Amino acid sequence: MKIAVLGGTGSEGRGLGLRWAISGYEVLIGSRDAARGARAANEMNEELTHDGARAMQIRGGDNPSMASEADIVVLSVPYKAQQATLKAVRDVLHGKLLISVVVPLQPPKVSHVWRPPAGSAAQEAQEYLADAARVVAAFQNISAELLPDPHHEVDCDVLICGDNRDDKAVAIELSQAAGLRGLDAGPLQNASVVEGLTAVLIGLNIRHKVKHSGIRITGL
Ligand SMILES: NC(=O)c1ccc[n+]([C@@H]2O[C@H](COP(=O)([O-])OP(=O)(O)OC[C@H]3O[C@@H](n4cnc5c(N)ncnc54)[C@H](OP(=O)(O)O)[C@@H]3O)[C@@H](O)[C@H]2O)c1
Repeated sequence: MKIAVLGGTGSEGRGLGLRWAISGYEVLIGSRDAARGARAANEMNEELTHDGARAMQIRGGDNPSMASEADIVVLSVPYKAQQATLKAVRDVLHGKLLISVVVPLQPPKVSHVWRPPAGSAAQEAQEYLADAARVVAAFQNISAELLPDPHHEVDCDVLICGDNRDDKAVAIELSQAAGLRGLDAGPLQNASVVEGLTAVLIGLNIRHKVKHSGIRITGL
């Protein structure tokens, strides 16, 4: 399965991409700039070689060409870049699953929950894409700090929101592939809570002087 990570040049998408490549997925790093995407992919391949990891070769390029090649597209850009990024790839997303990692933060108050008019960034993406693609929200609460070292256990669950059970099963599979427990957290509208939780975690990080607080669901 080919996974394109739009904005995979950033720390969150890159960390997830590395872990998926090690798990045997073909990872494509998307960027606004094809050369930057290719450079990030080369750096990731070098890291994997250095670690002695047996992984699929990662490739990089511009967001539309990576999205058009992929079976699954992961959106990992800042909220302010979401609309422009989706506009650039909308025509090549037809029938595909888009997994949104986006958290709608409003700098400088990044520890305050803020919701876009649609309710969440993921709902806004689904409204914009309409029938062109199906959106699932996942990985919003996973700190990028913990992802680059694939041997590092991430003490955080992945809450997955979406309106299609099969799509959420794919996100659960990708969570497992990244060494995480993925849980079906209900319909896409619940993404407003999951995205909002990240602002709460950022506030906890600041108050406790750490970089990667997380959440665990107990009692299951
Ligand atoms: N960092 C975390 O710990 C973390 C944890 C959970 C969720 N998230 C969420 O995951 C998403 C990605 O996080 P990140 O930390 O990887 O973000 P980031 O490094 O700030 O940005 C990721 C990539 O998005 C593209 N981008 C940045 N600004 C842009 C703009 N104004 N217009 C278009 N593209 C732009 C850039 O790629 P190119 O320049 O190559 O196009 C950049 O490398 C965000 O929505 C974030 O809230 C982050």
